[in-house]
Amino acid sequence: MKEEQDYYYRLVEKIGEGTYGTVFKTVDQRNGDIVALKKVKIRKADDGLPKEFLREVESLKYVSHPNVIKIREVFVGKSNINIVYEFMDSDLDNLTQAMQRPYTINEVKVIMRQLLQGLQAVHSIGLMHRDLKPANILIDKEGTLKLADFGQTRVVDPSFFYTLDVGTKWYKAPELLLGNKKYTEKMDMWALGCILVELLDGCPVFAGSTDFDQIAKIGNLLGKPDPACLSETSAKLQFPDWPIKDLKEHFGGSISDDAIDLIKKLLVYNPSKRISVEEFLGHEFMQISEPEYTKTKAMIGSLINDQH
Ligand SMILES: Nc1ncnc2c1ncn2[C@@H]1O[C@H](COP(=O)(O)OP(=O)(O)OP(=O)(O)O)[C@@H](O)[C@H]1O
Ligand SMILES: [Mg+2]
Repeated sequence: MKEEQDYYYRLVEKIGEGTYGTVFKTVDQRNGDIVALKKVKIRKADDGLPKEFLREVESLKYVSHPNVIKIREVFVGKSNINIVYEFMDSDLDNLTQAMQRPYTINEVKVIMRQLLQGLQAVHSIGLMHRDLKPANILIDKEGTLKLADFGQTRVVDPSFFYTLDVGTKWYKAPELLLGNKKYTEKMDMWALGCILVELLDGCPVFAGSTDFDQIAKIGNLLGKPDPACLSETSAKLQFPDWPIKDLKEHFGGSISDDAIDLIKKLLVYNPSKRISVEEFLGHEFMQISEPEYTKTKAMIGSLINDQH
């Protein structure tokens, strides 16, 4: 960590505002490279360095994969800690909002395959991301996707009681919403299920307004929670008699049978019955020929170009 770096970087524009940092498109004046610079706020409540900063830098040190964002440099500025990343042109949330049409099935496959490959690199070394959502998935003009925002990433340890105060409501797994502190990397698979439906259907599948409303939205589609995802306290709750809906009918028949089968394996209350990254990658829905894959990836890249 050096101080003089502050002078090398010229901020161009603000591109993202998060809970723990502000991200700027920036020029590295030593070589003219465009980079992304996150200024991490140091809060009074922090005892030492902010934990999100430590988690992000520590996790990304161990994960090196083409579908995971890379840190170029970390340095201390005058009143901030700064993380410098490779620059990406957009994120999946911005792209979806700018889209003039629904994603094609092949586009969904190309997006999900890259997301899964990145997540495989995270899960395979025993980490869980804990905040997967479209705004944390970055995309460039080649149509390459990278997982970002590792500020909440932790090691998976079955003996550990984790905080429930992680992730983003709409993508939060039911075991967390129901107070179960012994969760695993399967909570990331729930978020992927939500993202998959969102790409196919065009809108978030469970857009709850509060944690309770979130559970009610899930219950209205999947029925009463399975006892396997309840905590000691939530096991005592009486849930309404939510009927289990037919997913095909619910989505108005617009989602293919193989996609419905995949969704049913992801949006599962019981985390141990929810499929893994490998099972997702091997599912029939994910199959696509390599020429189609390459063509579609370039197509996604051109959508990013159209945004600018
Ligand atoms: N390397 C990058 N290149 C381009 N844009 C980026 C990059 N990293 C982050 N961004 C943009 O900045 C936004 C916020 O970044 P990030 O999610 O890492 O910060 P955060 O403080 O954890 O945010 P939040 O609390 O909202 O999740 C992203 O959603 C994305 O739009
Ligand atoms: Mg974020």
